[in-house]
Amino acid sequence: MFNKQLIQQFLQIKTPCYYYDTGLLLKTLFAIKSAASLYNFQLHYAIKANANSKILKSISEEGFGADCVSGNEIILALNTGFHPNRIVFAGVGKTDDEILLAIEKNIFCINAESLQELEVINHLASGLNKKVRIALRINPDIDAHTHQHITTGLHDNKFGLSWCDVEYFMQHKEDYQNLIVDGVHFHIGSQITRMQVFSDLCYVVNQVLDDLAKNKMYIQHINMGGGLGINYAEPESQIPDFQTYFDIFHQKMKIKTGQIVHFEPGRAIVGQSGALITRVLYVKENGDRKTIIVDAGFTELLRPALYQAKHKIVNLTNENNYMLYDIAGPVCETSDYFGKSILLPETTRGDLLAIYSTGAYGEVMASQYNLRQPAEKYFSEDFHEKHAEILNNS
Ligand code: LLP
Repeated sequence: MFNKQLIQQFLQIKTPCYYYDTGLLLKTLFAIKSAASLYNFQLHYAIKANANSKILKSISEEGFGADCVSGNEIILALNTGFHPNRIVFAGVGKTDDEILLAIEKNIFCINAESLQELEVINHLASGLNKKVRIALRINPDIDAHTHQHITTGLHDNKFGLSWCDVEYFMQHKEDYQNLIVDGVHFHIGSQITRMQVFSDLCYVVNQVLDDLAKNKMYIQHINMGGGLGINYAEPESQIPDFQTYFDIFHQKMKIKTGQIVHFEPGRAIVGQSGALITRVLYVKENGDRKTIIVDAGFTELLRPALYQAKHKIVNLTNENNYMLYDIAGPVCETSDYFGKSILLPETTRGDLLAIYSTGAYGEVMASQYNLRQPAEKYFSEDFHEKHAEILNNS
């Protein structure tokens, strides 16, 4: 991802900053599109993973739909070129204004997560004299075997309708005259790396579809959510194995003629194409530990502090004499660490470190705690252009 020329350019800019490799993003988009198109699977990029407008434009230009979880995400999706009839809207806490916006903008589908929400959507749609397409987000009670904070498909998680709720809905569906319920939606968690979990999901979804059919509910759209994990330990492997992932669904799901399967990948699309570049401010010794203090903190990348996530970290400007370091940010919180006991070359003030795999849930989760300045964002082409400029002027 980083050659000498790029590192020289990083040395001249203010840090911390996000760096996005547009070439890698496009390669990843191409790979997932080709793999999904084999089975005619529909893709809705989960905007929450990275809502940088330039990235969104690249994704919409490649013909993807969008998965949104707020009214503002819907507005941004529309403004960055996503077609309304490829936008889906999920979330356990949609406000009335957000629902009205979704209806007025004629988005493809609202993924409803509770009986009360179904009543509210029906009521608001009737006020606008419209019929709204709905997918029932069903909680399948499956363990995604990922971090507990990003597990969403267990029965005690707040997400989705329980099977009891679905049964209630089926018995009373005549009461919801302004809803067209022809879809189901599942999303059981994020950063899922055990492929068996997806097979388990297919098994439950097949049962659900059978039960719905027995109750005369015709389901055309089956949205299997997102969740495919990426390799944080070896980001060099870069493009996730989309082929194996989609093959599982193709083989295990019992799809009937006319049914369409949808996915909402986020992390797997953008995760590897971003890196956080940070400068070493100080190297200090506390007892027997050597601690590198960098100029990025959990204000720029929350994942290590919130989920104990491990991102690969390298020193871009030194390569000799390896030793163990803890790497911490400047934020006044004890959890503000990017890693402990990390093997790095001897590191000194002014060195640049790259924190890999920060394209997903990095920039979007940033905060200004301690009144910190938002980090700058750069794209690979910005540096190519700069380099060309320098060459032209010399
Ligand atoms: N669909 C729904 C309904 C979701 O809630 C999510 C993610 C996705 C799709 C996309 O999932 P992905 O393909 O990116 O795994 N901040 C956490 C991740 C939170 C994921 C929230 N929902 C992290 O940094 O790991």
